[in-house]
Amino acid sequence: MSRLSDPETFEAKLAHLTELREQAMHFSPEAEEKQHAKGKYTARERIEKLLDPGSFQELDTFVRHRTHDFDLDKQRPWGDAVVTGHGTIEGRRVCVFSQDFTVFGGSLGEVMSEKMCKVMDLAAKIGCPVVGINDSGGARIQEGVVSLGAYGEVFQRNVMSSGVIPQISLIMGPCAGGAVYSPAMTDFIMMVKETSHMFITGPEVIKTVTGEEVDFESLGGAMTHNQKSGVAHYAAEDEDHLLEDARYLIGFLPQNNLETPQRVQPTDDPDRMDPELDSVVPESANKPYDMRDVIGMIVDDGEFMEIQEHWAKNIVIGFARLDGFTVGIVGNQPSQMAGVLDIDASCKGARFVRTCDAFNIPILTLCDVPGFLPGTSQEWGGIIRHGAKLLYAYTEATVPKLTVITRKSYGGAYDVMASKHIGADFNYAWPQAEIAVMGPEGAVNIIYRKDLAGSPTPDERRQTLIADYKARFANPYTAAERGYIDDVIIPHETRPKLIAALHTLQTKRVAQPKRKHGNIPL
Ligand code: HXC
Repeated sequence: MSRLSDPETFEAKLAHLTELREQAMHFSPEAEEKQHAKGKYTARERIEKLLDPGSFQELDTFVRHRTHDFDLDKQRPWGDAVVTGHGTIEGRRVCVFSQDFTVFGGSLGEVMSEKMCKVMDLAAKIGCPVVGINDSGGARIQEGVVSLGAYGEVFQRNVMSSGVIPQISLIMGPCAGGAVYSPAMTDFIMMVKETSHMFITGPEVIKTVTGEEVDFESLGGAMTHNQKSGVAHYAAEDEDHLLEDARYLIGFLPQNNLETPQRVQPTDDPDRMDPELDSVVPESANKPYDMRDVIGMIVDDGEFMEIQEHWAKNIVIGFARLDGFTVGIVGNQPSQMAGVLDIDASCKGARFVRTCDAFNIPILTLCDVPGFLPGTSQEWGGIIRHGAKLLYAYTEATVPKLTVITRKSYGGAYDVMASKHIGADFNYAWPQAEIAVMGPEGAVNIIYRKDLAGSPTPDERRQTLIADYKARFANPYTAAERGYIDDVIIPHETRPKLIAALHTLQTKRVAQPKRKHGNIPL
């Protein structure tokens, strides 16, 4: 007799499946209540909010752990402590794993790792982004060294997928110990204020080892990693905002390294010229302005998704669109430390440039930089090594590179900030640009030291020499004469110029030397 012609038996089997599914969905109602009381969603609720409604296809619902130690065999929840599968965001496929804190505190053991690895492998195989939702007590203590091996399997996949598919980590609870290294190797880390924490060792261990007293929030909360450490890229007020922001971020990225980001239907006129751009840079070269204002006036609909906005604020990075094309923007920020390049700004810029290059995202550089920050703390902290990261990243990047010098571009920083010499495709300068080895005051003090010492009126003489230096070097034309600058443009022409350049570069190809990989100074 066939299964379908025996409704009673089939009904019973269906009822059994429904019962098992229900069990898999809700392991512990009490733990779910606790989760909600903390302002946190459950693993499944998060997936529902992240993906397009009804698009989630769950995998491995009936995977169970095989551990007997510590009486763990008495509790073998369906699906273990992670929900995995795939679905869509704005119609584009993504794979997802969402750690379930209501099951063994989301702790990671052998089969949980197997589930995560399986969906990560699927993402790599089909070439789609993977979003990891982290909410876990770390290695499953009862499984001992097996759980350490299980983490290793995840790390291996993070690295193999790096630069192949976008990997995004949402930290929505604890993420402690060596477990932090999985998110750390992904492209973006997004955290929720107050309810997410990342640290290598917790407050208790720190107190024992170093005597230092610190709470969870100041040790590894969202703002700590967004403001101080630079580990995280984004901090959201709550889980709803984080999940919405993750969807928005994914919209700027391609599915994988063989694709370019999807071009959206532009809603802004490509020929739009904002007259306000002509007055955004103050007359005085030492007065600050906000580079984000410049960005807002240039890009489609003024929409800019800033990344790492709270850390190394002297450099601005983020995504926007020009005539519907995604661009990664790197801008010196004159309103913070005059836009100088220091260690943190170099690291922030370098990582972002490499992320854009890996995923075929053209880079727009807005340059107003007085140079690298002088001082012993920077030199001893390794500004040479860190500054070299930014130089290296820009130089190795083969995506379309567009540069606009809005004001200052001095010294080594001129070369670093996507100059023509390191492979930028189109370099523009505004008329007020000053492109030189150093600022007029510093230059005059050095090259005219003897002249000034012998002058009966050194102050007057200095002013004359500064004016002469300014006239000769503090302009864009000396560089333009040599073709280092492709064109000097009126600020309000910037948007149409950049869009024309971007269209031109759609077919850009660069031949690369054969090698295993370069050796970026780390
Ligand atoms: C097994 C764990 C667990 C773990 C939590 N649980 N962490 N079970 N292994 N690592 C269980 C708890 O026993 C509890 O079970 C349930 O999850 C919820 O935990 P609570 O402590 O009640 O929750 P809360 O008060 O919110 O505290 C959350 C926490 C705390 C801060 C994460 O649980 C904690 O400190 N856990 C241990 C963290 C840790 O040290 N992990 C190892 C890190 S080292 P019941 O049954 O009572 O509900 C590491 C190495 C990775 O991860 C190396 C990779 C290379």
